[in-house]
Amino acid sequence: MTVPANGNPILFFDSGIGGLSVVKEARVLLPEHPYVYVADDAAFPYGAWEEGALRARLVGLFRGLIARFSPSLVVIACNTASTLAVADLRAAFPGQPFVGTVPAVKPAAERTRSGLVSVLATPGTVKRQYTRDLISAYASKCHVRLVGSENLARLAEQYMREGFVDEEAVRAEIAPCFIEQDGRRTDIVVLACTHYPFLVNRMRKTAPWPVDWIDTSEAIARRALTLAETLPPPSRPDGPDIAYFTSDDPPASLRRLMTGFGFRLGEFSAGKAQGGIDVAEGAASEGAIEAR
Ligand code: DGL
Repeated sequence: MTVPANGNPILFFDSGIGGLSVVKEARVLLPEHPYVYVADDAAFPYGAWEEGALRARLVGLFRGLIARFSPSLVVIACNTASTLAVADLRAAFPGQPFVGTVPAVKPAAERTRSGLVSVLATPGTVKRQYTRDLISAYASKCHVRLVGSENLARLAEQYMREGFVDEEAVRAEIAPCFIEQDGRRTDIVVLACTHYPFLVNRMRKTAPWPVDWIDTSEAIARRALTLAETLPPPSRPDGPDIAYFTSDDPPASLRRLMTGFGFRLGEFSAGKAQGGIDVAEGAASEGAIEAR
């Protein structure tokens, strides 16, 4: 493996720009590391993908990314990808440290007073066995409502790029999270998609009553710090942090946003030949589910 121009970076990965919510926290805790950000926007949104096709896409994509960037650490800043494929990625690339992002069911179960918790996520994360297992392991005494949102990730992307979002649309997407039962009300909503923290103020504004919104960005960054401390110290190179979009065609508003987050834009397809990227196609969708 050749070390890329900007050293052995920490590679942040998401289907879009939601992973920037984790980058924001990581920059505070891990300022001395070079970063690469990869947005698989050619396949956005992941929430609607059929599981087998998405798993194959992720393993194929990472074969190329790891060969190309030799990352010291990979942060899968995406619940939809992590709950599906972090175990496959660890198995396919032994020796490569990965930090995954999974719904914060355990802290929610510890914190709720009413016992009514909602997990707001993409339709993909909601239907994962991984998510169901987390609930059985840590929240069996709570009533957990899983809410698969078709549109929130896209609304968050729009908000970040254009600074505007339709509040009525946000209200409609979060409404199923709020339940009243036997005189008790939902008091915790887990933001189980890395896009959602960017909309949390709009969610607060449009929620029917106040709740705690659990955002895991800082916890993920802390986990990355813990792992990074076990690795050789980074050599912070002169080069800038670089972001890649798998479409190689992000709109101007996205380019500006990435610059604001301290990234220069790189050309993803330029590395395809050396990385051996192998991508499968396919998509499917599913709606909201209730689990106990
Ligand atoms: N940011 C991703 C997550 O955390 C999902 C967005 C998408 O649907 O692609 O789940």
